Amino acid sequence: MRSLADQVVIITGASSGLGEAAARRLTRGGAKLVISARRSERLEALARELDPSGQRVLAVAADVTDGAGRQRLVDGALQKFGRIDALVNNAGYGTRGPVELVPVELIRRNFETNLFSLIALTQLVIPHLRERGAGRIINIGSVAGRIARPLSSIYDSTKHALEAITDGLRGELAPFGIDVVLIRPGFILTGFVEAANQASEPVIGNAGPYTPYFEGFRNDYKKLQRIAGQPDDIARLVEKALTARRPAPRYAAPAHAKLLLFLKWLLPGRVLDWMVRLRK
Ligand SMILES: NC(=O)c1ccc[n+]([C@@H]2O[C@H](COP(=O)([O-])OP(=O)(O)OC[C@H]3O[C@@H](n4cnc5c(N)ncnc54)[C@H](OP(=O)(O)O)[C@@H]3O)[C@@H](O)[C@H]2O)c1
Repeated sequence: MRSLADQVVIITGASSGLGEAAARRLTRGGAKLVISARRSERLEALARELDPSGQRVLAVAADVTDGAGRQRLVDGALQKFGRIDALVNNAGYGTRGPVELVPVELIRRNFETNLFSLIALTQLVIPHLRERGAGRIINIGSVAGRIARPLSSIYDSTKHALEAITDGLRGELAPFGIDVVLIRPGFILTGFVEAANQASEPVIGNAGPYTPYFEGFRNDYKKLQRIAGQPDDIARLVEKALTARRPAPRYAAPAHAKLLLFLKWLLPGRVLDWMVRLRK
């Protein structure tokens, strides 16, 4: 086990949900944090709550898709703490809608946030980890990075791509002492669904022949609430990935996430297609 104490960790998407839970847990473990997201009031309130002294938590309000914002994040960490030990790439959101109807601009935007900006921020951080011959990069993927569903395949494809980047990067950075970990959450109660609905409003409101299926999709989510996990289920895995002597390449939680990943491995494609099919 490695200690969390005094590790300098950057967390994106820390203004709510999984990122906020990770910030809470890592602070308890003694880490020094740089937390980031766009909603500055929420972010600064969290920083004040976690560290009233202002010595151990730095809030940097930034849009991860903005190059200058990403640079401020890395510069802020180095100026305040003098080094970076780990990056938790967590910021992201979902897009709903049938592939036929989602404007390509919305698809690009989802990839820009969930994938390209994540890669760009990682590129800024790697040299600092490599120089020191140590460090960890934790990417928050999803079960949706292995199982794509109708009306969600835009978001799901961002997470599928993230799987590939994470695996490739793990091999590239291993010689330099840097570990790269993918965490695959299942369904967790956060602001995710609301943010996805908001981002997809123009599509959901004009879904034509797909409209009845959105009702089925919403009902599936309501049922899922019964087995949903809590943000701390994932925060615990982030802590594990940062403290394990040799972290696993991938972690998943809660139990339903592990089950779904097992079924993906086990079941023939047709059965899986049937499980996730459109329903009215
Ligand atoms: N909840 C789930 O069931 C679930 C399952 C699998 C994977 N995930 C993944 O977990 C991660 C966190 O999601 P969550 O469930 O915690 O949802 P959430 O509560 O909506 O949190 C998303 C976070 O990402 C930030 N964010 C979004 N777009 C951003 C941008 N352009 N620039 C900077 N920050 C941005 C948001 O902050 P601002 O709005 O303040 O910028 C917020 O802090 C995402 O990558 C998501 O895909 C979630």
